[in-house]
Amino acid sequence: MDKFIVMGGNRLNGEITLHAAKNAVLPLLSCCLLCEEEVVLRDCQPLSDVKKMTEIIVRMGGKAYFENDDLHVDCSNAEFMPIDAELTKSIRSSIFMLGSLLGRFGKAEVSYPGGCEIGKRPIDIHIAGLQKLGVKIAETEKYIVCDGKNLHSGIINLSMPSVGATENMIMAAVLTKGSTVINNAAKEPEIIDLQNFINALGGKVKGAGGDTIIVEGVERLHGCKYRPVSDRIAAGTYLTMCAACGGEIVLNNCDIKGLRSVIDVLKSCGCRISEEGDLLRLSSDGKLRNAALLRTGPFPAFPTDMQPQVCALLSVADGVSLIEETVFENRFKYVSQLEIMGADIALDGRRALITGVSRLHANIIEAEDLRGGAALVTAALMADGVSTVYGVEHIDRGYYKIEDELTRLGADIVRVSNKLFQKRKTIA
Ligand code: UD1
Repeated sequence: MDKFIVMGGNRLNGEITLHAAKNAVLPLLSCCLLCEEEVVLRDCQPLSDVKKMTEIIVRMGGKAYFENDDLHVDCSNAEFMPIDAELTKSIRSSIFMLGSLLGRFGKAEVSYPGGCEIGKRPIDIHIAGLQKLGVKIAETEKYIVCDGKNLHSGIINLSMPSVGATENMIMAAVLTKGSTVINNAAKEPEIIDLQNFINALGGKVKGAGGDTIIVEGVERLHGCKYRPVSDRIAAGTYLTMCAACGGEIVLNNCDIKGLRSVIDVLKSCGCRISEEGDLLRLSSDGKLRNAALLRTGPFPAFPTDMQPQVCALLSVADGVSLIEETVFENRFKYVSQLEIMGADIALDGRRALITGVSRLHANIIEAEDLRGGAALVTAALMADGVSTVYGVEHIDRGYYKIEDELTRLGADIVRVSNKLFQKRKTIA
């Protein structure tokens, strides 16, 4: 396993060009199963989560490979396969395959999901929705077994606007005759992107971004070339890092609409932010104010996927901040590591009360999940001294070679590969 060695204290200056969003590409890859022609997803990065999804497609007999930044996917020869525990443990998004497997093969067998350790992450909403579409579901010890012989269109009222469940329902309905209505749908930009993608493939989806999505079933989909929406969480992470360290950063290809709540918080903390088309510029002197109350929630509220990074920033902001995490039940695991670095954070269930300190101090810290890991890198970048960040494999799930991007901005960060270290020891 790799680790980062970070010498904190440098200001961050420069430009970053954003690529396709991990959380858009994953459901799009799943959706490719519904299409029996080649699809090209443009401007994608080989993030570890993305590579795991392509591995599932390849194991099913489909083709999936990178050619520069283009991800080619051809599922014409894909055959039914149960998605086993080994794959679902390492990537929760395999649960997003339920809908497309049902649409393509009329059945699905998926092992219980894994992914980020940020709470129980149940799948009852997915199951209830599919049952409304006539899918018979049996839960065995290992698998969720779905029989879609009688898959039909219908009206689904989601009990909560779950992102994954909304995506699954859309995909189950794309090739299903008739009109399927999904009420209380999630409104995230990645849902709109899935709609745009399906329509580019010849499907008929409307309403995404609002409460109700309507899918008119079509007989088949055709191939296309498509550029998924930009990664708003990667964008927000780099903005937060620059805000925390001080400096000036320009983001190109930015999904500014998707970032609005993050921009508002960073502005209220004292950053100067300007926008021009899809270009966003942030400058910060590193002296930040508190955020009185920051509450995460479904889009357009503040994204839970930005909560840890902003908490790291608030740990050195002037005054007291309160964060309330309403989406996931266990998303403060990283806090113990910030405390090792000198942060003053009091946890009470889903709330964190942060009293800003003047400086964080370098230490040896370990990431346990993706965005918590990004928060620890943020903390290490602004701390005084040299920190070691373990658990880099979690960070690699959502940021491609983050150390290279940060080095270009002036950070002092290197990846130490354990393999390299072992090889050197052998040679010696
Ligand atoms: C997606 C994102 C993730 C983000 C989250 C919320 C991807 C690959 N992942 O995850 O990065 O943090 O949206 O924006 O796109 N829930 C249930 N039962 C269900 C489904 C969900 O109780 O059947 C609960 C979850 O436990 C959680 C909340 O609903 O507390 C939100 O989950 P959901 O919107 O489904 O998130 P994901 O799709 O898993």
